[in-house]
Parts: sequence; C-alpha cells; structure tokens
Amino acid sequence: MHDGKFPRGGPGAPWWDRLYETDRAEWIDFVDHPDPRLAERARRGLRELDRFQRASLAYRTFSRLALAEVGRPREPRILELGAGRGHLAERLLRDHPTAHVTVSDISPDSVRAFRAGPLGDHPRVTARVIDATAIDAPDRSWDLAVFTMSLHHLQPAQVRMVFREGTRAAHRLLVIDAWRNPAYLAVVPLLFLLGGTAAAHDGAISLRKAYHPSALRALAADCGAPVRLRCGFHPPGYLVACAHRGAPRASGDSAAATAQDRDRPDAGPSRT
Ligand SMILES: C[S@@+](CC[C@H](N)C(=O)[O-])C[C@H]1O[C@@H](n2cnc3c(N)ncnc32)[C@H](O)[C@@H]1O
Repeated sequence: MHDGKFPRGGPGAPWWDRLYETDRAEWIDFVDHPDPRLAERARRGLRELDRFQRASLAYRTFSRLALAEVGRPREPRILELGAGRGHLAERLLRDHPTAHVTVSDISPDSVRAFRAGPLGDHPRVTARVIDATAIDAPDRSWDLAVFTMSLHHLQPAQVRMVFREGTRAAHRLLVIDAWRNPAYLAVVPLLFLLGGTAAAHDGAISLRKAYHPSALRALAADCGAPVRLRCGFHPPGYLVACAHRGAPRASGDSAAATAQDRDRPDAGPSRT
C-alpha cells in the first residue's frame, strides 16, 4: 500500500476512521524550527505535555512498563528515544538503582537541556542526539529501547524504520503511545486543565494520528527485518507495543494480539 494512503487505523480501517485521521501538525513538530516563534511554540508544547504527564502519573506507568520489559540484568542498559524533557529517564534512574540510561532525542536543543540539567552530571547517564529511524550505534548496544508518546509524530515509512532500527540496536523495543479510539477525545478538556492550551491542541491531534495496533502490525511485518510484535491496551489509555527480532511463530504474537485487540470491549475501529 502506498504510504500516502496508509491509514493509521490499519489496512482495514473503516471510512469513518479515515475521516477521523488528520495530517495537521502539532506545535511540538516545530522543535528546533529556524523561525524562533515556532520553535518557542514547540518548547511550550513540550513543557505542557510534560506537565500533563507528571500530573497523570504517566512517567511512573511508563517506567514500570519499561522495567518489566527489560528483565533482570544486574545493570540493564536502557535507551530512551525521543525523550522530550527527560523526565522518564529521571524516573527510570530512581526506580532502578543500577540501570544505565542513554537519554536521547532528535532535537539538539533537548539534548543540550538534558546535559545542562540533573541528568547532565548523573554517573549512570549518557545524553546523545539520536534519530529513532537511524540509530547510530552497533547492534545490541542496549537491553531495551523505549519510545513514548512519539510514534504518532512519524510517518508510516519512518515507523517501519523505527521497528527495524530499534530492534537492531536494542534487544527489545518498547513503544508506548495513545490508544486509538475517538472516545478518548473526551480527555481533551483534562489536557487543557492539567497541561494548558498547547497540550490540548497537540493532544487532540495526537489522538487522531495515533496508530491502531493493526497498523503497527502491518508496518512491523513490512519493515525489512524479522520483527515480532506484541500489542496491547494499558489503562487509562495507552497502546503498549513490544518488538524484538525473531522468526514469526505459527501461532505467533501478532495473531494472538489480533484476536486480543478485536475482542476488547473498547477496541478501536471495527473491521468490516
Ligand atoms: C510528544 S514528544 C514526547 C516526549 C516524551 N517521550 C514524553 O513521553 O513526554 C515527542 C518527542 O519525540 C522527538 N522526536 C520526533 N521525531 C523523532 C525521531 N525521529 N527520533 C527521535 N526523537 C524524535 C521530539 O523531538 C519530541 O521530543
């Protein structure tokens, strides 16, 4: 399928889900923009998203999910991609006293801020500019790569690259993003109250750009590497996708997840 037409609701998305989808840019998309007004808007978007994430205990949830996925190495090596303000990395370091965290973002501005803040002189932290679609590191450099609330910013072709690169550079890739279901637009007033105008603006767009599990499964299956993907719902409204390299099983994760997603009472678009 041509990427321009690849529906974020998945290859079988119904017409109403395709109408629900949007191409509009979020303020956060203008991070590091040469126009200082747009760059400042993007910083404001990141600040307000961060406020909402802290108020809704999102970093605590993400840290628990990441540490559950990393397993039991004594000194796990964790890569955070698209770290934004770096607060998940701080939380991971607090929650796991021997974890080593590489905190990264595609934005040099954000990485400068990590280095200037509490992460900068932390003995278990490395701060780097990293593009999640082209990770400049040898295979298996980390036990786990984590990418939170960011995947919907990327086009389908880039999502394929994230699956390929994330599962090459790390043993496992954990993606957490918004759960795709129009009912979650009801959260926008809460985004406004806890975050602000930018959080509400970007949040409404994010919900409409979020990938449905069936879209992620199609993209992972077509990413040019043997990637196995497990997708699920995590309350109150997260899509949690865990990917790693390996030959698909006959009764594979994807098939199991398809049935699981379809059977959920709050499942996204029904397939026709
Ligand atoms: C919505 S913010 C999420 C920030 C943080 N992960 C969180 O959960 O609050 C999206 C972040 O992804 C970053 N980003 C966008 N494209 C990226 C890419 N290709 N590689 C790495 N980071 C990227 C942006 O710079 C931004 O910091």
